[in-house]
Amino acid sequence: MTEIPEHLLKRSKARRAAMGLPGGEGDDGGDAAASGTGAAPAAAAAAPPAAKAPARAEQAQPVAPAAPPPPKPVPAYVAAAQRRRRIPYWAMPVLVALPVWGFIYWNSVQVPTTTDDALTTGQSVFGSCSGCHGAAGQGGTGAKLAGGEVLKTFPDPKAMMQWINLGAEKWTGKTGSAANAIYGDPKRPGGPHNTATLSGEAMPAFPDLSAAELAAVTRYVRETLSGAPDESEVITPELAQEAIDDAQKGKLVYKNEKPDPKRVKASTKVG
Ligand code: HEC
Repeated sequence: MTEIPEHLLKRSKARRAAMGLPGGEGDDGGDAAASGTGAAPAAAAAAPPAAKAPARAEQAQPVAPAAPPPPKPVPAYVAAAQRRRRIPYWAMPVLVALPVWGFIYWNSVQVPTTTDDALTTGQSVFGSCSGCHGAAGQGGTGAKLAGGEVLKTFPDPKAMMQWINLGAEKWTGKTGSAANAIYGDPKRPGGPHNTATLSGEAMPAFPDLSAAELAAVTRYVRETLSGAPDESEVITPELAQEAIDDAQKGKLVYKNEKPDPKRVKASTKVG
């Protein structure tokens, strides 16, 4: 065993005192190692464990109070939030129904102003016309609408809407076998059309169609079935409403009340 020279121990103690460190005897080895003497590792090993133990206890003492701090008290509002049930049970059916409601709501606020919407509506309204006029407007009990025929009879779409609103009887003021009257444009190429031309049921009135539906079916018949260009700018629900109001007041676009016998004859040749 190597003895640590006395002068070194003294110097070490003096330094420790100068640095304000506790001058534990057992700690000298560390300092001796720092001082770089060849004896240092040996000194560290030689230090008796009994001497080191108290030093460790001394160092451990300030550490002891640093035990994990007690958990902070949970604020009242957090505690309340944690106790609360997240989603009440009655909310479940509401949540399930929400997308359905949203879909219905979204649809209900859509204004059918676009071309496609009006023509789609028009097609479904035409379901109540196709029985007489044919699904493609080719004619049957009712007059032929396709192939530009309806455009010749009603160059003015407002007049066509009045015709649909009033029907043959109200338009001409004549019923049954007396229903021999022209309707539509009196200057129609090939002669005006006549309610006596077709032997079946007369054109019925459609007073229950809304202005939007009337405009839609008119566009569908003219554009889709009869080949008219896009008339969305002209045939609006506003114009339809005007047509209905005027028709109910007897203000017709065409004055067809007095049928011209010559024209009636000519019109019978026109399909
Ligand atoms: C019960 C059969 C019947 C139904 C339903 C019917 N029409 Fe007619 N429609 C006729 C007849 C018949 C005529 C020819 C005039 C007459 O004899 O009264 C006619 C004529 C017309 C004309 C004039 C065509 C032309 O060039 O002479 C138009 C436009 C027309 N109908 C549109 C409609 C529309 C739109 C509907 C549906 C909303 C409809 N009709 C439903 C029987 C019908």
